[in-house]
Amino acid sequence: MDGNGRWAQERGLKRTEGHAAGEAALFDVVEGALELGISWLTVYAFSTENWRRPGDEVRFLMRFNESLLVRRRDELNEMGVRIRFIGRRDWRVPKRLLRRMDESVALTAANRKLTLTIAFNYGSRAELVDAVKALLLEGADPGTIDEADIAKRLYDPEMPDVDLWVRTSGEHRISNYLLWQSAYAEMVFVDTFWPAFRRDDLAGAVAEYQRRDRRFGGLKG
Ligand code: IPE
Ligand code: MG
Repeated sequence: MDGNGRWAQERGLKRTEGHAAGEAALFDVVEGALELGISWLTVYAFSTENWRRPGDEVRFLMRFNESLLVRRRDELNEMGVRIRFIGRRDWRVPKRLLRRMDESVALTAANRKLTLTIAFNYGSRAELVDAVKALLLEGADPGTIDEADIAKRLYDPEMPDVDLWVRTSGEHRISNYLLWQSAYAEMVFVDTFWPAFRRDDLAGAVAEYQRRDRRFGGLKG
């Protein structure tokens, strides 16, 4: 969900107002995903690198995400959305926010229409390091470790591989997002800043995806 700051700047607003405006985009995209029959949607809300931002902005993002969960989880629940999180639960994430996250996951655990995974304090390299640590702690045999062993120790082992990967705001970077899961993802880059992104833009990315020929390393079938 990139481009909040630039969207705000263009309008003479504070960066944090761009983050706030991103909420409408997120909910429109969730509704669009439900309409399109998408059953897994994962959004990058806060990266392990975002702690480098000014303290004021980081504090805003912590409070904002907490308030978003409290204000909107019932609505998401009624829509049949299952909320999940991927990321490191380290000391830097406020306890209160962790509590809201856990409550939201528990509240929506039985829903199956759409799994909305929020990547928070997430970084793919950290995720892979954590998976390797888990394997070592379990005393795994190096001679037999395979890809499935790694995949099973990612933050959400049930999350399927990424089919369609979308980045907003005109940046052409992966930025440490779902590296393992996106090995064969179709990537779509759009110039739209996140707060201006809507379900039609998601549908456009899906249409682009449908025009792609996925071969997974094989030959044209
Ligand atoms: C994405 O928007 C939101 C987060 C990373 C939390 P940015 O804040 O990165 O906006 P730009 O890239 O500065 O425009
Ligand atoms: Mg950015």
